[in-house]
Amino acid sequence: ALTVRIASTGQSIEIPPDQSITTALERHGVSIPVSCEQGICGTCVTRVISGEIEHRDGGYFTEAERARGDQMTPCCSRGRGTLVLDL
Ligand code: FES
Repeated sequence: ALTVRIASTGQSIEIPPDQSITTALERHGVSIPVSCEQGICGTCVTRVISGEIEHRDGGYFTEAERARGDQMTPCCSRGRGTLVLDL
């Protein structure tokens, strides 16, 4: 299971397996702007404070950027356990 925590409010939101992080957050009143929803444009890029990211972006990040683990494209990437997002 994947949970996202919003750093500024402490709100924890469970991400269902069939929903993107941005969709699940939107349904809980947390809006992240999206455009391509494929990890290409970078519109949704969000800083990650902690947690294990599973990068599924379509090439927006370089391998080095992915390896740093401090940002993600929540329109399509996921994670394991709890991701704390800088929102
Ligand atoms: Fe384009 Fe997420 S909306 S990278």
